[in-house]
Amino acid sequence: MSNPEDTHTSQKVALVTGGGQGIGAAICRRLARDGYHVVVNDLELERAEVVAADILALGGSASPAIADISDSAAVDRMFDQVEAQVGPVTALVNNAGIGGNAAIRNVTDEYWAHVLAVDLNGVLHCTRRALGPMRDNRAGSIVNISSRAWLGWWGQSAYAAAKAGVIGMTRALAVEMSSRNVRLNVVAPGLIDTPLLRNREPDALARLLKSVPIGRVGTPEEVASAVAFLSSDRSRMVTGQVLYVCGGKSVYAYPDWPDEK
Ligand SMILES: NC(=O)c1ccc[n+]([C@@H]2O[C@H](COP(=O)([O-])OP(=O)(O)OC[C@H]3O[C@@H](n4cnc5c(N)ncnc54)[C@H](O)[C@@H]3O)[C@@H](O)[C@H]2O)c1
Repeated sequence: MSNPEDTHTSQKVALVTGGGQGIGAAICRRLARDGYHVVVNDLELERAEVVAADILALGGSASPAIADISDSAAVDRMFDQVEAQVGPVTALVNNAGIGGNAAIRNVTDEYWAHVLAVDLNGVLHCTRRALGPMRDNRAGSIVNISSRAWLGWWGQSAYAAAKAGVIGMTRALAVEMSSRNVRLNVVAPGLIDTPLLRNREPDALARLLKSVPIGRVGTPEEVASAVAFLSSDRSRMVTGQVLYVCGGKSVYAYPDWPDEK
């Protein structure tokens, strides 16, 4: 399969926000292997182009699409272009997000607004736009990337609020869209091996790992595998659910337990 350039494709079309690196890039590669034409969205053109080129080199089909998801007009323009070039998006993965650690005394109005603008409003902008054709065509799946951190973690008030909001929005829309054969689900990763995590002090990482029963960080590919399942017909009876990919951290976060191994 080649890049369809500006021609319509009969392939299923997936759009992955923040697909230019980390978890998003792994999701793009996985969905391409599963036969989708993958639209790699990112803020950074070069990142999106590299991931799309990798997919093409491996015989898949992909194209980059630049838009800041916190800007609803830019999101609408991106979807207009994608629909004109490759057809309606049948699988949307709202992955783009920004993290950040801030004790509450450092949570300014600006910081709060910025985190929510990307991590919550960005999900709304893409979801609302994607749902138009999905509703009309009575087909589609949306997977939103939240985080185990929504359950609570130090320094995460803004991030957890946004990621909790994503879960609430997903559950509400899963009900609203149920008669239209459109499913919405959440994947909530725990500690995942990304550059951000690798840059942490070894001591801090070791402490964090104590809160993961499985005892290791997850890989972006393990998150991508959950997304692929929820995007596909294999999960056609599943909607409004949260699938944790966190090595058990969501069920048991006590930092020090007896070693039973
Ligand atoms: N890495 C983890 O351990 C972890 C854990 C739980 C949840 N998550 C969530 O997974 C998702 C991906 O995380 P990651 O670690 O791969 O992040 P990352 O920072 O490595 O990559 C995020 C990508 O999104 C892009 N992006 C950022 N803001 C954007 C915007 N406004 N519009 C379009 N693109 C934008 C960035 O340019 C970047 O390429 C995020 O939603 C994050 O909150 C990550």
